[in-house]
Amino acid sequence: MSERIVINEVGPRDGLQSQDGELSLTQRRQFVEALIDAGLRHVEMGSFVSPRAVPQMAGTGELARALGHRDGVELSALVPNMKGYELAREAGVETVAVVVSATETMNRKNINMSLEETLAVARDVIGRGSAEGARVQAYLAVAFECPFEGLVDPAYTRELAAELVGAGASELVIADTIGAADPGQVGGLMEALVADHGSERLACHFHDTRAMGLANVYAAIAAGVRRFDASVGGLGGCPFAPGAKGNVATEDVVMLCEQMGFATGVDMPALLSVVELISEMLGRPQGGRAHYWLSRRMQQAA
Ligand code: COA
Ligand code: ZN
Repeated sequence: MSERIVINEVGPRDGLQSQDGELSLTQRRQFVEALIDAGLRHVEMGSFVSPRAVPQMAGTGELARALGHRDGVELSALVPNMKGYELAREAGVETVAVVVSATETMNRKNINMSLEETLAVARDVIGRGSAEGARVQAYLAVAFECPFEGLVDPAYTRELAAELVGAGASELVIADTIGAADPGQVGGLMEALVADHGSERLACHFHDTRAMGLANVYAAIAAGVRRFDASVGGLGGCPFAPGAKGNVATEDVVMLCEQMGFATGVDMPALLSVVELISEMLGRPQGGRAHYWLSRRMQQAA
């Protein structure tokens, strides 16, 4: 059997939060269900944040209730603070994601807290989550470079990573929020983190701002990482990080992993149908770098 690579689909959160206009809750539910039908077993379906800060994510509680529990599927949601954690848990969410940015300014811009405050909130949510049987994914955002403060010292990123793992995070996600990292940096940092913590609970989150997304995924795989965030159609960006483009596209990551001999469990034709579905919902064509090639292959095979 092939070795597995776990894909965590973040289109319904990271993807939609930066789009102009809001989808209805019915559309968001259809989107998540189509992703599950395409074989994705980990989907970040929304965030419990201030609807004034991110109107696209309003109603995530209702969405979580409508989706309910699905056997074998992990539906997660991002929470910026304890209030978000409580709202998520009341709505039945079993996996939450907390975000610590590696710089002072990015924390301020994103959630209006200092780095120290954000770390304290993350520790509290991780502690409470563990005590209450929830999984808590800890994101380390702008782990390589910050749009406001520039390059982040890898030794510092490693320190913050150790804090979050030490606090008991179920998973540590290293995020190149603005898509500024290169494969050399990724390989170096991820090798060090695999040495520090093992690869089991490490994941990477890349944006494809300057066509380095897949190269960075490759570098992380070579360093031993087996869990990746990706966003169908390459949707995404962060409204609080200027210049951040979409996430690395799920179809591109699946293609790379499968061609390298890993199993992802994702059904490519069904995934490409989700690209069509979300393009229709948003009224704009979406698609990763390999979209044209993959679509032609599928037509030829049909
Ligand atoms: N969910 C929903 N509403 C929330 C909330 C949450 N998790 N946390 C706070 N709020 C509400 C408060 O109740 C308050 O509402 P009110 O004005 O109607 O009383 C309002 O938001 C402001 O709360 P406050 O504690 O003063 O926070 P703030 O204005 O400093 O904003 C955040 C902090 C974290 C709520 C806000 O910056 C946010 O939601 N950011 C999300 C950023 C994001 O999603 N980034 C992308 C992913 S990394
Ligand atoms: Zn992101």
